Amino acid sequence: MNLEEIKAIEAKVLLPTYERNPIRFVSGEGVHLIDEKGERYLDLLSGIGVNALGYGHPAVENAIAEQSKKLIHISNLFFHEGQAELALRLTEMSGLDRAFFSNSGTEAWEAALKLARAHAGLLRSEGRTLGTKFLAVENSFHGRTMGSVATTHKAKYREPFDPVMPGVEFVKFNDVADLKAKFSSDVCAVLVEAIQGEGGIRPVSREFIAVARELTRETGALLICDEIQAGLGRTGKWFAYQHYDVRPDIVTIAKPLAGGLPLGAMLSTEEAARAFHPGMHGTTFGGGPLACAVAIAVIETIEKERLLDHVTLVGTYFHAMLNQLAEKHPAIVDVRGMGLMLAAELDSAELAKQVAAEMLEKRILINRTSETVLRFLPPFILGKDDVDHAIAALDSILSAHAPEIAGVASTPEKQMGGGKQIG
Ligand SMILES: Cc1ncc(COP(=O)(O)O)c(C=O)c1O
Repeated sequence: MNLEEIKAIEAKVLLPTYERNPIRFVSGEGVHLIDEKGERYLDLLSGIGVNALGYGHPAVENAIAEQSKKLIHISNLFFHEGQAELALRLTEMSGLDRAFFSNSGTEAWEAALKLARAHAGLLRSEGRTLGTKFLAVENSFHGRTMGSVATTHKAKYREPFDPVMPGVEFVKFNDVADLKAKFSSDVCAVLVEAIQGEGGIRPVSREFIAVARELTRETGALLICDEIQAGLGRTGKWFAYQHYDVRPDIVTIAKPLAGGLPLGAMLSTEEAARAFHPGMHGTTFGGGPLACAVAIAVIETIEKERLLDHVTLVGTYFHAMLNQLAEKHPAIVDVRGMGLMLAAELDSAELAKQVAAEMLEKRILINRTSETVLRFLPPFILGKDDVDHAIAALDSILSAHAPEIAGVASTPEKQMGGGKQIG
């Protein structure tokens, strides 16, 4: 089927949840994707933060080939060696004690919410005073299932599905006074992203996360950190919270964990884990032998190729180059992020949309989030030359369009639609 045929069929038989860009990718190599016409695209999005090792990495291919010959699925009713080995690695990397494996980010988050409620119930049964309320943060994004949307701030993700899970209150982003005012013994958990992803690559402040840690410790409530986008090396450390001097009680991860195969995990302290016992939570597919084998290979490769250092190095360079660009182009109002989780915020949504679309025309994939924010989530193997290429493209697009956008008349939307918000 060619692209036009696929589009026509999808328009009839798929639920309309995505407005796709009109490109059919057929293969990938390193940091590049290749479409059906053989055109190469520099990928600064990596399947929304998933393809950390890029495309065609032999470690991923070999792990898939070898494990798929042995065993793909067995269910969680039997043992296989993958979960034990992967959990050992993740607990060591995170400083947490236990792991539960899921298939996706949102499922890891649901597990975290359930564990927090169950833990509060356990504490109540032991005579402590603890309620069932969650404190989430404005501009948060935690996924698309019902608990996740209930704790996701943007109304457009949540309100069409009302009534969602009750008992969630939102605290203003990085507003310590608001956090203190809304916190009480009614709260069973405070929910944060160390760096908000969909919310526009916004790092939590040291003070906010430290106060959240202190308040929760006092009452026995849990601090839950969503590392689904920021975790597993993207910021130059295994976990973004490791840039701060805190250890959460629960951490969720997913996107890059299994090299593109679906796998998520909830990591927790021994204390929180006391609240779960057999039968309380589960999954048919989560933590299967194939996904776990690939995840172990991904983690080993990140270690062997010293990719955390590489992410820091190239991320620092990328950040500096974006700052330079911001000096030249007043349309860039802020540059944010850590490692290879970066953003350039523009002064208008219209311009951000156009820039993303024109980057796609120049065969560079980026993404726009929170209307005005250009988001960069490239594979960890990105090189400085790739950064230079992207910066030069951004420079020429901003030079060509900034005056036009700043004027009264704006150009019609580009056909390519590269600025569509996805995530
Ligand atoms: C911070 C965060 N949490 C949760 C999710 C949901 O993950 P998934 O799409 O795998 O369910 C995402 C996805 O973008 C995310 O960025």
